[in-house]
Amino acid sequence: MKPCIGVLISGSGTNLAALIDAFSGDDAKAAIGVVISNRADAYGLQRAVAAGIPAVHISNAKKSRVDFDRELIATLQAHGVEWVALAGFMRILSPVFLEAFTGRVINIHPSLLPSFPGLDAQEQAFKAGVKITGATVHFVDAGLDTGRIIAQGAVPRFEADTIEALRARILAMEHELFPMVMAAAVSGRLSVEAGCVAIDGAAQALAWQPDKP
Ligand code: GAR
Repeated sequence: MKPCIGVLISGSGTNLAALIDAFSGDDAKAAIGVVISNRADAYGLQRAVAAGIPAVHISNAKKSRVDFDRELIATLQAHGVEWVALAGFMRILSPVFLEAFTGRVINIHPSLLPSFPGLDAQEQAFKAGVKITGATVHFVDAGLDTGRIIAQGAVPRFEADTIEALRARILAMEHELFPMVMAAAVSGRLSVEAGCVAIDGAAQALAWQPDKP
């Protein structure tokens, strides 16, 4: 049996689409067992259905954080999920959730953490006038975007950039970075070396290339 990944989303799901591409087919290192959204209108749910993956809406409205998380846990476990990928999931998970999947919850964030945690990281970076920004894939802990960093991808911010152009450049990097990290995680290729997470024993960083938009 292949390792089973559950993907949590809140929106469009372009990162989900990159994960579906990476984890479909016989040669894939894992399978996506279920996609869950806290928003009924998340387009990512339609992407999951189109790919033949169970798609579940669990509302967080009028529910305590822990009750919502318990529903998430039950649904993920019912689908045999071992690893959880947060692909644009805009909720903070409680310790109850993190204990159910200790060391197996991984998030993608659109900045070079620890810079610009929280909402609209791309706009925060844009407004700060950074020259280089990017994306971070990290283990999730109880803090806001504070978990141990696994890998990062850097992209330039050009003088003529609009926020939309910068956002798109970061997103394209995310689509490379996230499947690469999830494949390494499910294959047991992550380790901690001198306080840093390594993939195959080495630090992993990607850099933007003009021919790979
Ligand atoms: C992505 O940019 C992801 O990094 C970000 O939401 C977007 C989701 O896009 N996540 C966060 O900001 C989490 N703090 P997508 O739905 O097209 O994958």
